[in-house]
Amino acid sequence: MSEHRPVGVFDSGVGGLSIVREMRRRMPGLDIVYVSDAHHLPYGEKSERFIRERAFVLADFLLGRGVRALVIACNTATAAAARELRERFALPIVGIEPAVKPAAEATRSGIVGILATASTLQSVRYEELLRRFGQFTRVLAQPASGLVECVEAGDLDGPHTRALLARYLWPLLEAGADTIVLGCTHYPFLLPAIRDFVGSDVRIIDPGDAVARRVEDVLGGDTGGSGTLCCFSSGDVVQQQASMSRLLGEAVVVLPLPEYPGMHRREASSG
Ligand code: DGL
Repeated sequence: MSEHRPVGVFDSGVGGLSIVREMRRRMPGLDIVYVSDAHHLPYGEKSERFIRERAFVLADFLLGRGVRALVIACNTATAAAARELRERFALPIVGIEPAVKPAAEATRSGIVGILATASTLQSVRYEELLRRFGQFTRVLAQPASGLVECVEAGDLDGPHTRALLARYLWPLLEAGADTIVLGCTHYPFLLPAIRDFVGSDVRIIDPGDAVARRVEDVLGGDTGGSGTLCCFSSGDVVQQQASMSRLLGEAVVVLPLPEYPGMHRREASSG
């Protein structure tokens, strides 16, 4: 097999593109196959069992495309399924989890805020992170329901998005947090609006580049290829194509995931 097989990346929706963006910045030659499971979005309000089942379906699909490594570009799916995926599949798997350790190292006030989905914040994995890295820091968990949908709809700084951000960020600032962790891959697309709200003194931790670096490591520096990005979605491919193109600032073609060949308009989630 060619050394330059693609790397597979998946998320519940378009959020994982914040990781793809960093991967391409660091490794422009890399070929990437991206899957957005938008038909089942948001993962953050689904059961761990359901998310795990979806993670296996998407990983199977990506393995069928010949990927040489898998990136779980979703904090929620990493918390729910990374261990089980690693047990099942032999290829390198890179996940993403809330950056509690970097935040604890960066804070001067000793108080940090973690914005993430409800599912991530309720996970055993998050509890472990707190136990390992959060002993000497006050870590404020803020579930941020609704922000994922804002990003999916392309509303990155409208009144509704700004009102949600104010609702979630204000209590963190009021409690003295000087460091905010973006614990969901959709949130980096809201960075300008978040920065506007918190001001320039608050540190915002976006782990995208750290994940890209980790991918580079597991590939052993072999990041060659033609720099293609091939996208699939279980959701409304027309809407997903528009949304992904806007977020990446280039024309992206999105193909239907084979298990949802006829899906052109989003239906009620079965989760
Ligand atoms: N982007 C995903 C994450 O990083 C979650 C989005 C969702 O709730 O579907 O957690």
